[in-house]
Amino acid sequence: MKCRVCREPAVLDIRRHNAAFCRDHFVKHCAEQVRRAIKDHDMIGAGERVVVAVSGGKDSLALWDLLVDLGYRPDGLYLGLGIGEYSEASGHAARAFAQDRGLKLHEVDLATDFGYDIPRAAAATHRAPCGACGLSKRHLFNAVAVEHGYDVVATGHNLDDEAAVLLGNVLRWETGYLGRQHPVLPATPGFARKVKPLYRLGERETAAYCVLRGLDYQVEECPMAEGNRHLGFKEVLDGLEDRSPGAKAAFVFGFVDRAHEYFTDDAGEEREGLRQCVVCGSPTTSGVCAFCRLRERVGTRAEHSQ
Ligand code: AMP
Ligand code: FES
Ligand code: ZN
Ligand code: ZN
Repeated sequence: MKCRVCREPAVLDIRRHNAAFCRDHFVKHCAEQVRRAIKDHDMIGAGERVVVAVSGGKDSLALWDLLVDLGYRPDGLYLGLGIGEYSEASGHAARAFAQDRGLKLHEVDLATDFGYDIPRAAAATHRAPCGACGLSKRHLFNAVAVEHGYDVVATGHNLDDEAAVLLGNVLRWETGYLGRQHPVLPATPGFARKVKPLYRLGERETAAYCVLRGLDYQVEECPMAEGNRHLGFKEVLDGLEDRSPGAKAAFVFGFVDRAHEYFTDDAGEEREGLRQCVVCGSPTTSGVCAFCRLRERVGTRAEHSQ
């Protein structure tokens, strides 16, 4: 196996590109995919301030590293979810990366700052933890960005993540979600722009990138995500990819380039009629936003059980 570019021995082959790369050209390939994602979708304008949501996992550390490499000056944001040792190791990886490179890392801790954590939220809501987790992340990534004047929030969602979410949305024809599933969600009043610069790279690629760049990432997956329906979709998609390499990329890129536009009206309707949450001031369609309702619910339950 030889590098497609320089014909030196390759370290990794990517079947969907029908190509193999040596270490240096693989790193360049990753940077090129991110550069292209940013350019094709106008993700980051000149002089704009970017904050990267960093979980300490392979995707978000690779993203932070790649954005620095491409010349942006992104700060990081780590959210402590309170999921035992998993969260401790995640925070450690994010902090170590920031310290080594002298980068700024904002930290928000659900328990310290908001009086609940994900295990308690899951118990109080009797729902899968990922619901409360996703809601807390969406709210706080945006709240921190708005508070500190960032123009853009970047997350490490990769091609596999996007393919799994897309399959879930298509299977149920969730037209509102399909309208909002895109590598870029434009800024609207009260919301910073959200971007996914890794959507062109698979998780095998982001993991290999971290290993080849010597980035120490949290290898464990979240222990509370077991049984998460997206994991099932990922298995199905891996099966498809195995039989026909390139299937995931065709599915996601085709949607982004040719189908997403048909759903944007469905998403737009939900964004109209927004007002301010009476508790925290965030944009919401109801009087009290979902994040504040969650806090209230978990807080009330915790008091009752004491
Ligand atoms: P996940 O929802 O775990 O698939 O993560 C998707 C993206 O959200 C990651 O690539 C990160 O950019 C971000 N993210 C996930 N967990 C955290 C966290 N605890 N703190 C900050 N960002 C996170
Ligand atoms: Fe959110 Fe596991 S990371 S429930
Ligand atoms: Zn090479
Ligand atoms: Zn609120």
